[in-house]
Parts: sequence; structure tokens; C-alpha cells
Amino acid sequence: MLGVIGGSGLYKIEGFKKIDELEIETPFGEPSSPIIIAEYEGRNLAFLSRHGTDHSIPPHLVNYRANIWALREVGVKRILGIGAVGSINEKIKPGDYIIITDFLDFTKSRKSTFYEGRFGKKVKGKGKVEDLINSKRVVHVDMTDPYCSEIRAILKAVLSEKGYPFKENGVYVCTEGPRFETPAEIRVFKKLGGDVVGMTGYPEVVLARELALCYASLCISANPAAGIAGYKLTSEEVINMMKAKTTEIGEIIKALTIKITDKHSCDCGKTLEGAGI
Ligand code: HPA
Repeated sequence: MLGVIGGSGLYKIEGFKKIDELEIETPFGEPSSPIIIAEYEGRNLAFLSRHGTDHSIPPHLVNYRANIWALREVGVKRILGIGAVGSINEKIKPGDYIIITDFLDFTKSRKSTFYEGRFGKKVKGKGKVEDLINSKRVVHVDMTDPYCSEIRAILKAVLSEKGYPFKENGVYVCTEGPRFETPAEIRVFKKLGGDVVGMTGYPEVVLARELALCYASLCISANPAAGIAGYKLTSEEVINMMKAKTTEIGEIIKALTIKITDKHSCDCGKTLEGAGI
């Protein structure tokens, strides 16, 4: 089953029929919201609101571990994270979609691994992940290709078919937030090769990888980044852009749900091979 994590302004997926609402407890605490199981043309989807259904959780306080763990718990094998970003790359205009291929992490305070070695807690269940955690192993996952190639290819096909403007290779810079960046920070990120900036893309991608799940990130540019915009940034601008995109995002998710099959052509499931010490 596909799992979708909705970001700012996206608290449900249009066009899907709700069939269940699940409150999941995890060994890592409470996820941001209940998981909504919804259906479209016989395919189920699990939806979670990253900031909570009432948007009461700021980016630096999202329990990313609980969110990813909870999605796995309900049977999700593939995750699509959706998020609003600011454009660092001036070719990316507000309203454009970006399929993320790599990231730069500038966060400061987030729990970004399930594998805490001797300091970790025990988890229930039997499987490679549970064995690694319960045997207190230290685990280093490969990040050569952090985002699932298969979901990215499907997203590219869907966006092309729909004629929505997009960039297929975006480098995501993740900042700690909740403040926006300074113009000097944006100039540095640009020099480092960043295309877009957001506050929630990390550690979501890494945590999904640590559970050998497929993860892709589809971002929507809500604004030119600080200093490029030539005006002050507001949360209002971000939310308005995401609200304006709700129908399109629903269309993308519907097409993705139909195109994704149970067969995986990617290597995401092999992430844990040779990763434990
Ligand atoms: N910076 C960080 N996060 C964001 C931005 C931005 O400019 N726009 C939307 N989310």
C-alpha cells in the first residue's frame, strides 16, 4: 500500500473515499495524526498529516520516527512525502513541482535514526529491522540514491502526462525552522548546489530508508527563497499555494496509486544488506 505524508496546507487527498481512521501507537511515540485509509478504484492509500490535522506541530517538533514507523505498521511499503518549499534555483517558479533526488541536511535537533545501538529501546516483532534494533546494532544506511527510483519515474510520467510544470532532479536543502532562512543562508545553499529549501524533508527520507521502505518526495514551490523573492516571506503565501494545488495533488496521487504495482523494480528493499556492524 502507498502511504502519503501531507505537508502544510494538505490535510486530506481529494478524490479518495475514506474507509478507516487508525490511531497507531509506536515504540517511538505518537505519530502526528491518525492514519486515514482511503480508497480509489479498488486501491488503498494510507494518509498521514505531518503537522497534525489542525497544523499544530512545527517542523522541528514533528515526530518523524513515529510517523514512518506507524505507516509501516499499517502495511505501507512505499511512501510519498509532499512538501512546500522555497525556490533557490531561479529556474523553479512558484507553483512548479520538484521531484527530489538528493538532499543537504542543515537540521540541528531531530531524532534521525531508529538504530541507537546500546542506547536503543526494544521493539516488538520479528524481522530484519526489529532484529537490528533489538540486538543493539549500529547501522549505517547507504544514501547514494536516497529517493526511490521507481516512484520518481512514475511521478515523472504522471506529471508529464498531466502537463504540470516540474523539475525532475531537485536537491532539497532542509533547514531546522521554524523561521525562514536569511538571504545569506540562501546564497550559501545556492553555492552548495541546493535547488529548493524546506523544513521537513529530513529525516523523513532517511528513516524510511532505515526501514527499507521506498520513499520519494514531491515538492511544490510556494515562493522564491529569502532574498530572491524581493519581499518578506509569509506562512500565508505557503498555505495559499498548497491550497491552490490541492486538486492537482489529488490527481497526481490518484494516477500514482493506479500506476504503482506490488512488484518493485528498485533496490530500496535491499537497503539493510550489509548496513549493520
Ligand atoms: N523556506 C523554508 N521552507 C519553506 C519555504 C522557504 O522559503 N517555503 C515553503 N516552505
